[in-house]
Amino acid sequence: MTSKLDSLERWVQDVAAMTRPAAIHWCDGSDAEYRALAQQMLQSGDLIELNQETHPGCYLHRSNPSDVARVEHLTFVCTKDEADAGPNNHWMSPADAHAKMDALFDGCMEGRTMYVIPYCMGPIDSPLSRCGVEITDSPYVVINMRTMTRMGAAALDRIEREGRFVKGLHSTGELDPERRFIMHFPEELTIKSYGSGYGGNALLGKKCHALRIASFQARTEGWLAEHMLIVGIENPQGQTHYVAAAFPSACGKTNLAMLIPPEGYREDGWKVWTVGDDICWMRPGEDGRLYAINPEAGFFGVAPGTSTNSNPNALTTIARDTIFTNVAVTADNQPWWEGLPGTPVTDWLGRPYDPANGPAAHPNSRFTVSAKQCPTWSAKAEDAQGVPISAIVFGGRRPSLVPLVMEARDWAHGVLMGAAMGSETTAAATGAVGVLRRDSMAMKPFCGYHYGDYFKHWLSFDKAGAKLPKIFHVNWFRKGKDGKFMWPGFGENLRVLEWMIARVEGKARGTETPIGILPANGELKLDGLNLPRETLAELLHIDTAGWQAELHAIGEYLDSFNPRLPARLLQEQQRVAQA
Ligand code: GDP
Ligand code: PGA
Ligand code: MN
Repeated sequence: MTSKLDSLERWVQDVAAMTRPAAIHWCDGSDAEYRALAQQMLQSGDLIELNQETHPGCYLHRSNPSDVARVEHLTFVCTKDEADAGPNNHWMSPADAHAKMDALFDGCMEGRTMYVIPYCMGPIDSPLSRCGVEITDSPYVVINMRTMTRMGAAALDRIEREGRFVKGLHSTGELDPERRFIMHFPEELTIKSYGSGYGGNALLGKKCHALRIASFQARTEGWLAEHMLIVGIENPQGQTHYVAAAFPSACGKTNLAMLIPPEGYREDGWKVWTVGDDICWMRPGEDGRLYAINPEAGFFGVAPGTSTNSNPNALTTIARDTIFTNVAVTADNQPWWEGLPGTPVTDWLGRPYDPANGPAAHPNSRFTVSAKQCPTWSAKAEDAQGVPISAIVFGGRRPSLVPLVMEARDWAHGVLMGAAMGSETTAAATGAVGVLRRDSMAMKPFCGYHYGDYFKHWLSFDKAGAKLPKIFHVNWFRKGKDGKFMWPGFGENLRVLEWMIARVEGKARGTETPIGILPANGELKLDGLNLPRETLAELLHIDTAGWQAELHAIGEYLDSFNPRLPARLLQEQQRVAQA
């Protein structure tokens, strides 16, 4: 009898024949393996030891300065039919893409070790989980994948049982931006990534598998793979509602997932449980509700801005056994970034810190840490069946126009709210920062197929027997005339979540407006917040002329997905525009 592993072993041999490594290492995911790799990287300079007294088990990695973020312009979806990739993706024919990549991979691992990383996205025993194998020549990728996924022997067992896995091939190559491509072959469950060591480009389980490939699979299999955090909100009566929220990269997912209730709420008994901070896989359960798992096992979070004020939970999580990438260091060798007390002496490039050179930590500097270290890590995060979702939230960085919170009238209106999402670009991807762009469901860089088909797939969940979550839209980033954020955000966002839950439980009336349901007077609890009444009014204000222009722009944007735009979505846009 031939083993299901034969196809894996054959693929590994084929890759080795092409890349010609000096050695092949099958990763078992053990502590000993992790420690040995860390030692080796300390010797090679790939890792720098941080202050072990203040930060035990913490290391710093400095990437190539040209390799600090995702590269959307070099990321491709290679479907047989170009139309299937949609205008939302860059496309190359599978044959051309394979030829291009295989030429780059030819002999690229000479003199290096090739690591074979079996991993499982999601709890090992969950029917919702999916496995993959990443082949890489980067030990940095191995130690990050070990933290971010369930990697090693248990995953290999599951692959042997199922026979099906996503094949990911990665090499850091020469780190030349001219020779850097991230290619996805969703029809072949294959990823090829060359020339970058950065998280989203190189940790293939994350954005490449769990979003681009998984979204493609989810469409045909009847589930959703989304760029969403998952958070449990426990009220003083001990009931927990799970909320899934989609915000673009660097727009607040990790922060909301680890929220600490503000003063007053804590004393009253509100608790917040972290299930996931970036990716959510969900599908309808037998009772018609949507059940979600977090496919990841760790956090790859944005460091700058993480502070005792904004996210004390994250600070506790990363106090030990954490890999920091592109942060600055202090005189006593502690990691440092903008938002922390203390002073940097060495910047992210390893130069003596000089404010004239810009921020000390790179704006997209990151921490990689096991989710188990998070004080609010939910016991349900390991539940094979996932958690039932009560509310879905969309949101982005909108300095004007978009109110603090609004609720969709029904599922189709909610799908429109998600499709119409806009947000200012951030340092999480290369390119200009602060430019407003449409980013439907925060999936613009991650949807592995045509957005028109994707919207149709979302609409298809509204069917007989479904008990769908309510859909909301939030905006923590509206700015006042002084250019400052009007809403305090962070822990105070619980006040907005509380209103959503009251809506879910039928305990808040809300007020109908043409663009959705807003909190009625007095429904947002603001005691102890010191928010001037005018500011609240401004945060919930609807500028009719501004919204007419916005709805016109949304209509034009949706048109760009014709002929695959579902008519239902256009009707929805027209209904709102005419309201
Ligand atoms: P993610 O990439 O979506 O997980 O985003 P993060 O949670 O890491 O946040 C990215 C940046 O947005 C950080 O600089 C945060 O400090 C900032 N941020 C997060 N939540 C809020 C909020 O509620 N209000 C404001 N003003 N900034 C926030
Ligand atoms: P994030 O993206 O900002 O959504 O955490 C991670 C990445 O760019 O790889
Ligand atoms: Mn994040």
